[in-house]
Amino acid sequence: MSKTRIAFIGAGNMAASLIGGLRAQGLDASQIRASDPGAEQRAKVHAEHGIELFADNADAVEGADVVVLAVKPQAMKAVCQALKPSLKPEQLVVSIAAGITCASMNNWLGAQPIVRCMPNTPALLRQGVSGLYATAEVSAAQRQQAEQLLSAVGIALWLDSEQQLDAVTAVSGSGPAYFFLLIEAMTAAGEKLGLPRETAAKLTLQTALGAAHMAVSSDVDAAELRRRVTSPAGTTEAAIKSFQADGFEALVEKALSAAAHRSAEMAEQLGN
Ligand SMILES: NC(=O)c1ccc[n+]([C@@H]2O[C@H](COP(=O)([O-])OP(=O)(O)OC[C@H]3O[C@@H](n4cnc5c(N)ncnc54)[C@H](OP(=O)(O)O)[C@@H]3O)[C@@H](O)[C@H]2O)c1
Repeated sequence: MSKTRIAFIGAGNMAASLIGGLRAQGLDASQIRASDPGAEQRAKVHAEHGIELFADNADAVEGADVVVLAVKPQAMKAVCQALKPSLKPEQLVVSIAAGITCASMNNWLGAQPIVRCMPNTPALLRQGVSGLYATAEVSAAQRQQAEQLLSAVGIALWLDSEQQLDAVTAVSGSGPAYFFLLIEAMTAAGEKLGLPRETAAKLTLQTALGAAHMAVSSDVDAAELRRRVTSPAGTTEAAIKSFQADGFEALVEKALSAAAHRSAEMAEQLGN
């Protein structure tokens, strides 16, 4: 990425995190440009990251190797159609817009090489994970550029088929909210068991963090880690048995299927 020039269309939350991540990786401010309709947003991003910002999207993409589409999905069609005359065929387009398919983008932009990504909110803290899918027109060097871009805010994983992005959306895209829900429920249950709310919340949060750290750094999988902390006839076993008797795994599977289904449905609605 030492010489790659990157243009961001839309300089909102996700673009700003990516820009911050790239700057932290050593990219020079002169390698990054962005455009955004909001004068205040442009001033803010310029002050934070030192990059040049434009009101006109066409000005931002001039001379860029990679063009990152970081606007809301609802704005994608108009943004792509307006951008089409300004793009060169060799410019890689990276989209982070949820639910906009490569086919829709090719319809609106013409035959650009496209990498479609699904990042998640922890990217704002550079703790994200993204699924990436590249169209056949994307070169090996461009794949590397896209991977390095998304790696600036977390882990980047390649997918074999675009359809898998619906599953990525269901697992990691929407995933942070599932953990928040579990944190809410455990905090409420702790309070019901007699703890002050603040204590229950702190116990839950630190346990979530500690468990995630253990799982990430361990060389065995989550099932084995769970077995190791579940003594026969102990307290953990009592809780796990209760969860499973109420169909915990089936509940999770059903919820993720609902998310994946909704993702596919939204792609259809937004792609027209
Ligand atoms: N945030 C996440 O965790 C997350 C996760 C996965 C995927 N994504 C995807 O990332 C994309 C951006 O999300 P975000 O959270 O960063 O949204 P955001 O903060 O609203 O950023 C979008 C920016 O684009 C600007 N914009 C609107 N119309 C534009 C146009 N025609 N040309 C150029 N810029 C324009 C917006 O300006 P105004 O506010 O003035 O309209 C705003 O500053 C979305 O497509 C979303 O699906 C986000």
